[in-house]
Amino acid sequence: MRVLLLTHAFNSLTQRLYVELAALGHELSVEFDINDRVTEEAAALFRPHLILAPYLRRAIPEAVWREYLCLVVHPGPPGDRGPSALDRAILDGERAWGVTVLRATAEMDAGPVWAAETFALRPARKSSLYRDEVTEAAVRAVRTALDRLPDYRAGRWRPAAPPPQPLRPLLRQAERAIDWARDDTAAVLRRIASADGAPGVADRLFGQPCHLYHARPFAARGAPGEVLGRVGEGIVRATTDGAVWIGHAKRSGGIKLPVALAFPEAAALPALAGDDAAIRYAEADGVGYLHFDFYNGAMGTAACERLLAAYEAARRRPTRVIVLMGGTDFFSNGLDLNRIEAAESPADASWRNIEAMDDLCRAVIETDGQLTVAALQGNAGAGGAFLALAADRVWARRGVVLNPHYKNMGNLYGSEYWTYLLPRRVGADRALDLMRRRLPLGAEEARRIGFLDDCFGETRDAFLAAVTERAAALSNDAEHGRRMSDKRRRRAADEAEKPLAAYRAEELAGMQRNFYGFDASYHVARHHFVHKTPHSWTPRHLARHREIGWRPPEEGPA
Ligand code: COA
Repeated sequence: MRVLLLTHAFNSLTQRLYVELAALGHELSVEFDINDRVTEEAAALFRPHLILAPYLRRAIPEAVWREYLCLVVHPGPPGDRGPSALDRAILDGERAWGVTVLRATAEMDAGPVWAAETFALRPARKSSLYRDEVTEAAVRAVRTALDRLPDYRAGRWRPAAPPPQPLRPLLRQAERAIDWARDDTAAVLRRIASADGAPGVADRLFGQPCHLYHARPFAARGAPGEVLGRVGEGIVRATTDGAVWIGHAKRSGGIKLPVALAFPEAAALPALAGDDAAIRYAEADGVGYLHFDFYNGAMGTAACERLLAAYEAARRRPTRVIVLMGGTDFFSNGLDLNRIEAAESPADASWRNIEAMDDLCRAVIETDGQLTVAALQGNAGAGGAFLALAADRVWARRGVVLNPHYKNMGNLYGSEYWTYLLPRRVGADRALDLMRRRLPLGAEEARRIGFLDDCFGETRDAFLAAVTERAAALSNDAEHGRRMSDKRRRRAADEAEKPLAAYRAEELAGMQRNFYGFDASYHVARHHFVHKTPHSWTPRHLARHREIGWRPPEEGPA
């Protein structure tokens, strides 16, 4: 089938559906929901058999849903209606939640139900639930809906109307607001989680309006609402029964940053004992597990340096295997673009950041005392995807989506030794193709082409359990010694053929042009990315129906 993905943005859920539908053999094109006329034009050009809307913020125009079968993915159970479904579920303390695939009709979220799935609502940030449970449920529901299509077309199956329920309007900040005098830790965390990544909870810090993100409980007591001190780049604020640590904030008109960066006033606060808990190391069965859970997978210079120090400490341990665990939601998304944007000289900040990232990658590549594994629980993009390839083995959860390319960020050349790491895994031609096409890569496909060694685990828990088992097996394997000597031999041969320093120098020459050259595309693209500038068109590499030479197909829609 020709399937048009109509979406507000090519976000994680849309990307996952894209790779799943592509794997099923469907012909795909993407159109961003910019205005009704553009949507109508896209449909007329592509003549899709199905329009799938994974992430919309507006209704589909009537002319389109009347002519085409339009299925909307709604992040709520059948009957739930409205734009803040997941936010409300978290705020209301729901234990279970759902995803519904329903047909677009005149009434928002009230069309006939094609498929629905449920999941347990883990206590987590909205964006974390969205990228994991919601996405997995959406994939299952969309598959069911597609399976029902032949019967629907043949008149053998009819979708049922959802239970009639009123539309719940967009959550207003007044409903999200924290009452510091009354809310206990659980309530504060629920409020922040329900709005994290966007839009955040409106509040005040240091007497100024801002939005809050990235919170966790913290063991401290004080007058409710009082800012007690700083820990890492976050602050600690008392609730009625304890305290919370808040890591990120966005000032009015600003961008999302660590609190200490958004508010220089934080420097004057007393430093409390503790750290930001982003880096964690554990050992079992001769295996060292290094977790690095940086907010949004963004790895700034200091984050890379701290992680490198932790990695070097892990190398000095008498282990046989080191597993890079990344974070829960993302393995890594490379350079911290928000921090770079906020720097006095974004070019200098980019340069320092890529050097720190490269130092980290080199340490992994040059590890000669242990076998290394990258275990991707969550997605990885740009430099973060190549950090994973620095390890000897690369495993991913089955639902992971990779974006192993840089060009979307203003034609960035990229470093992280990708010119060494990528071709040796997938071959020179495919490496070039991945970089040029700049499309998401699903884990199954990544395994097929050799980008990953393996992908497994339907859920994160299943993935983690299997990683532990496989890493222990690698550590206890009688072949470990031989593998280590093979690894050292191969590294020495590679180094003799072309030193790592040469790859790095070539890549950094490209990056220097991106950062300091006359073509400012990277700085412009980063600015738009960080400031979340609304799209004004769909990039050509996604909108196939807008490719030069595209002719509307003769047949369809059915
Ligand atoms: N630096 C800072 N923030 C980043 C980031 C980065 N490198 N990568 C992602 N983020 C943030 C996004 O701004 C977004 O923020 P929000 O919480 O305010 O919404 C959040 O992480 C999630 O990103 P989003 O783009 O919504 O996630 P996605 O899963 O839909 O898409 C990517 C993932 C990797 C395709 C996309 O985030 C991306 O292109 N990131 C930039 C990668 C990059 O170019 N890195 C620099 C070169 S190494």
